[in-house]
Amino acid sequence: MKKLFIETYGCQMNVADSEVVAAILSSEYQICDDIKEADLILINTCSVRDHAEQRIRKRLNELGFLKKKKPGLQIGLLGCMAERVKEKLLHEESALDFIAGPDAYRSLPTLIQEATFGKTAFNVMLSTEETYDDIDPIRYDTNGISAFISIMRGCNNFCTYCVVPYTRGRERSRNSKTIINEAQQLINQGYKEITLLGQNVNSYHSEEDGEIVNFAKLMEKVALLSPQVRVRFATSHPKDISDELIETIAKYDNCCKYIHLPVQAGSNTMLKRMNRVYTREYYLERIATIRRIMPECSIATDIIAGFCGETEEDHQATLSLMREVGYSSAYMFKYSEREGTMAAKRFPDDIPDEVKGRRLEEIIALQQELSLESNQKDIGKTFEVLVEGASKRSNNEYFGRNSQNKVIIFPKEDCHIGDYVNVLVQSCSPATLKGIIVKS
Ligand code: 5AD
Ligand code: SF4
Repeated sequence: MKKLFIETYGCQMNVADSEVVAAILSSEYQICDDIKEADLILINTCSVRDHAEQRIRKRLNELGFLKKKKPGLQIGLLGCMAERVKEKLLHEESALDFIAGPDAYRSLPTLIQEATFGKTAFNVMLSTEETYDDIDPIRYDTNGISAFISIMRGCNNFCTYCVVPYTRGRERSRNSKTIINEAQQLINQGYKEITLLGQNVNSYHSEEDGEIVNFAKLMEKVALLSPQVRVRFATSHPKDISDELIETIAKYDNCCKYIHLPVQAGSNTMLKRMNRVYTREYYLERIATIRRIMPECSIATDIIAGFCGETEEDHQATLSLMREVGYSSAYMFKYSEREGTMAAKRFPDDIPDEVKGRRLEEIIALQQELSLESNQKDIGKTFEVLVEGASKRSNNEYFGRNSQNKVIIFPKEDCHIGDYVNVLVQSCSPATLKGIIVKS
């Protein structure tokens, strides 16, 4: 059998997509983990920031050299960047044999064949229906403990800075029965943690046999499959994080007490310009509701520094909102203009790079403080931890996460990867907790 190597950039959705691609090609290709052995290399790309695309261009250059050494090696580009730049990429990047957008993976066998016969092979058609419902992803890069299930594709939100609605097309949900079947299969295989994935899982909606399944119902169905299996989700738009969902997460012990709720900015002017369709006050009310129903829940976010027209006052509003919420962690970025988005068309990218950089540094420094504060509050508490693997720093330690998604390191002691253990937290850094196993 021929050998396939897949390199994945960008978000967890992309990781899940690469697993679908591995399944689509599985009758002809076997996944390998040494790129030098590969007959086919696929690069699954991200377009969310210019930096991500530049990295991929550099990588394609390197792969061009590999190709010169190994005639017959094929290289294909998948994902968001394939969709954004389309066939132009085939002309610009000589290393490429074919490209396929996120909704075109079923046509990969054909594209590969066409490319073999020297045709310019590309398919970047977006679909309103494709969910790869019937495909059983091959989880080739797994610890056997945590798995992702993609429950929906695309996005209808059109935040003005964001390229995703253009690269991944309209929002569509998978049939809930196929999701439950996939989750059950994973449980049968011994997985202990399932993360339900979508660009905005809160707007998940499916109707089968007269039953309407929203995201809260779907979470409940997955949580009920096994109390021993944790359920997580990513990611959610603040505009539709409902009380019903918060109550469902609170109700089941195996629904993880961690919510990633990207705020992006703290001032109403910026939120409006970003088309986030909520205000600072609304967002803070949602946070208060989460805290009221689940005081132990940790909250993480995404923040963009230096969006179009952002004043010093707007920036201060982001910092004060971060303090008010007390995020346990955050993904923080400099604004990067993306061609074709509303922001690129309507608003000048007018914040100088040094200012964006300085604001981002202030945001990162504040988050370090907040993460440390949040972790310090956990010292002396005992958490149930799912053992995920050996710690990178020391062979005598394991790492795992608690329900709040915090990484905890502890000395190895009669337990195995995939076990749940109780860990008493004794110290911390901004990034991790450290503790010892205690018997319950
Ligand atoms: N520039 C910078 N960051 C962006 N994000 C999305 N688009 C952009 C952009 N044009 C960030 C948002 C989003 C995360 C996935 O990436 O914070 O939540
Ligand atoms: Fe990147 Fe967004 Fe595409 Fe994920 S959906 S790969 S974050 S552009």
